[in-house]
Amino acid sequence: MFFTVIGVGVFCYGVFYSILLCLLDCDLQLAFYEKFGKSVRRLQGKVVFITGASSGIGEHTAIALAKHGIKLVLTARRQAELERVKQICITSSGGKLTNNDVLVLPMDLLDFNSHKKVFDLAVQHFGQIDILFNNAGRSQRANWEHIDMTVDKELFDLDVFSVINLTRIAIKYFSTKGYGHVAVNSSIAGVVGAPYSGTYCGAKHAIHGYYNSLRTEKLGTDLQLTVSVICPGPTFSNFLQESFTGTAGQKYGNTTVSTDRRMTGERCGQLCAVTLANKINECWLGVFPLIPFVYVAVYFPVIRDIVLKVFGPKRLFKLRDSKDIDLSEVQAI
Ligand SMILES: NC(=O)c1ccc[n+]([C@@H]2O[C@H](COP(=O)([O-])OP(=O)(O)OC[C@H]3O[C@@H](n4cnc5c(N)ncnc54)[C@H](OP(=O)(O)O)[C@@H]3O)[C@@H](O)[C@H]2O)c1
Repeated sequence: MFFTVIGVGVFCYGVFYSILLCLLDCDLQLAFYEKFGKSVRRLQGKVVFITGASSGIGEHTAIALAKHGIKLVLTARRQAELERVKQICITSSGGKLTNNDVLVLPMDLLDFNSHKKVFDLAVQHFGQIDILFNNAGRSQRANWEHIDMTVDKELFDLDVFSVINLTRIAIKYFSTKGYGHVAVNSSIAGVVGAPYSGTYCGAKHAIHGYYNSLRTEKLGTDLQLTVSVICPGPTFSNFLQESFTGTAGQKYGNTTVSTDRRMTGERCGQLCAVTLANKINECWLGVFPLIPFVYVAVYFPVIRDIVLKVFGPKRLFKLRDSKDIDLSEVQAI
C-alpha cells in the first residue's frame, strides 16, 4: 500500500511537471521568479550597461528596464539606432528617466582597445555601473565541414572574446566596489548542439565555460559577484539577416515572418529584465516545444539522443528557423 501511494504520487508529480513545462515559455525557476520573485523595480537607482542595444533582444531589455526607471548605458555600432532606442526608453519610462539617465556610447566590440575607454566613460557619467549585460552577438547558418576558419575566428572574436574582454574590465571595476553583476546572452544553442550552426554553438558553449568558471572562482571571495547566463531560443530580431555563414564576409540575409514559431522581442526583453532583477545564474527561454525539450536534453541525455535521432537535423532545423532547410543553399554558403 505504502509503495502504491508513493508510486501514484511520483506519477502525478511527473504528469503535472510535464504539463507545466509545455505551458511555459521559460524554465521553472525563471517562471517562479517572474510570478513570485523580486520586481524589476528593485533595480531602480542602478545602472545597467547593455551591449547590442540598437536592436532585437538588447533593445527590448533596455525598454523593459527603462519602464521601471533603471538608468542605462546603450552601446552598439549604429549610433542613430541607439538614439532611437534611447528615445523609446525615455518615453516608456513615463517620466522616470530624463535625457541624462540614458547614455548612448557607440562602440564596435571588435575594436578591443576601445572597451576600457567606453566602460570608463560610462562610469564617469553615472559614477557607477551595477550590471554589465553582454548581449551583442551574431548567429550562423552553415554546413559544418564547409566553414572557413576565418569565420570561426571572426565569430569567436565577437561572440566570445569581446564578451570576455569587456567582462574582465567590469570584474576589475566591480572588485574595487566589492560587488557587481555580469550577464551574458548565450542561447539554447549553448546548451544543446543545434545543427547547421557549428561555430555559433561552439562559441555559446564556450561562453558557458568561461562564465561558469568565473562564478565558481569568486565564491567566498571579497567580491560578491552575480554571474547570469541567459539562454533564449528562437526570438524575433534581425538575427537571421545578420548571421554568419560558412564563407568569410558573407551574411545569411534571411528574414523571419510573423507566423514563425518565435518568442517576441518584447517578451524576451521582459524575461531578461526579470533574470537580472532576481540574480538568476542560468535560464532558458523559448516557445513550445523548446522548454520541455531542453529539460529532456539536460536531465535525460539517453532520451535526448533518441529524440535527436528520430527527429533528425532537418526537422530540428525547421523547429529552430520555422522553415525547411534548403540543403543546397547551406551547402553553397
Ligand atoms: N534572436 C534569436 O533567435 C536569438 C536566440 C538565441 C540567442 N540570441 C542572442 O541574442 C543576442 C542578441 O541578438 P538579437 O537576436 O537581438 O539580434 P540582433 O537584432 O541582430 O542584435 C544584435 C546586436 O548586436 C550588435 N552588434 C553586432 N555586431 C556588433 C559589433 N561588432 N560591435 C558592437 N555591437 C555589435 C548589433 O548592433 P549594431 O549592428 O548597431 O552594431 C545589435 O544591436 C545575441 O548574442 C544572440 O546570440 C538570439
